Amino acid sequence: MAFVPSEIINGFRKQFDTAATPVLYRAPGRVNLIGEHTDYNLGFVFPIALDMACYIAIAPASHGNLRVYSRDLQKESSLPIADIATAQPTKQWSDYVFGVAQELLKAGFSIAPSDLYVASEVPAGSGLSSSAALEISTAVALLAGRAFPKVELAKLGQRAESQFVGMPCGIMDQYAAVFGHAGAALKIDCRSLGHEYVELPSDVRIIAVNSMVKHELGTSAYRERVAECQQAVAALREFDPKIESLRDVTLEFFGRVQDSIPILPRRRARHIISDTQRVVDLAAAARKHDLPEMGRLFVASHRSMQYDYEISCEEIDFLVDTAIKIPGVYGSRMTGGGFGGCTVNLVAPTAVDAFRDGLSKAYQERYKKTPAFYNCLPAEGAGPV
Ligand code: GLA
Repeated sequence: MAFVPSEIINGFRKQFDTAATPVLYRAPGRVNLIGEHTDYNLGFVFPIALDMACYIAIAPASHGNLRVYSRDLQKESSLPIADIATAQPTKQWSDYVFGVAQELLKAGFSIAPSDLYVASEVPAGSGLSSSAALEISTAVALLAGRAFPKVELAKLGQRAESQFVGMPCGIMDQYAAVFGHAGAALKIDCRSLGHEYVELPSDVRIIAVNSMVKHELGTSAYRERVAECQQAVAALREFDPKIESLRDVTLEFFGRVQDSIPILPRRRARHIISDTQRVVDLAAAARKHDLPEMGRLFVASHRSMQYDYEISCEEIDFLVDTAIKIPGVYGSRMTGGGFGGCTVNLVAPTAVDAFRDGLSKAYQERYKKTPAFYNCLPAEGAGPV
């Protein structure tokens, strides 16, 4: 749904029965171009922040609560300010909001009684990080201009998600929501928490395709992958005790010792180590405007997720395999946590129509579902509107 400020302000007034004029904030979703699940292994990731964002209208209130309404879910939730510090998750969408509020309190910020009206354009469960967009827009809305280092803001959002919501995520999504930049991708070093902006070739479109599949096993499988990577680190430390994360392992070293590692952690590690390298290679290829190489890296990354990390699914593999047969498509891969959601595709501008038509038709015929297409334009990170 496109962003219309007056609609959000009117929605706010109607929902909360007030004439107050709220202040508007936004935080973007993201599409990750390469480097999947590498963030919690302290490797590199390469997302772009999207022009699809989560918007929050906020105004002070006199009822003593933090009251929040989601336009998209048509649900309201309220928590007394005095209870935020000790609140427990309820497995509702409002956990993202109250988790952020609790983390802000822990970081020493006061929270005033307020009304928040949330309206998001980022499709939920699509691998485009609607949750980080909600967390970071909540954080900037509640901070209301109070100074807080950007990197701390990203870390706070991540803590809200891992500690309150209960999803042991890495830093990528919140970092992209904070540091996004119009016109460029972000190459993030998840160990140093620094980044560089990489301009993408102008003669290619980045198109996300939503499979409309949401696999509920997402969080439990994510936990399993985190644990399997830790097992791989423990096994690799037998060869070099200086290794603290898979980031410390080169492909060359891994190639020499991998046969001594049990098969499952071996395959998980192979994905992480190779995808971290592919981030470096994709950034280099982007700088050289080498679209065929960028496409090759996309597909290699997808196969690695499909066979080694095992986080793809049938529908997503079908979208990738169909896309790469369409002339003018350089590459295709799943993006995000996995088990459904979106693919991200590099498409020549002249091939966009054929790509959309061909993929839609094939997917509908095979799965009786209509995929959604999003033209991904790099946008700025979170802030006031
Ligand atoms: C989810 C997590 C991120 C990252 C991706 C996979 O989006 O929130 O931290 O691990 O999955 O790359």
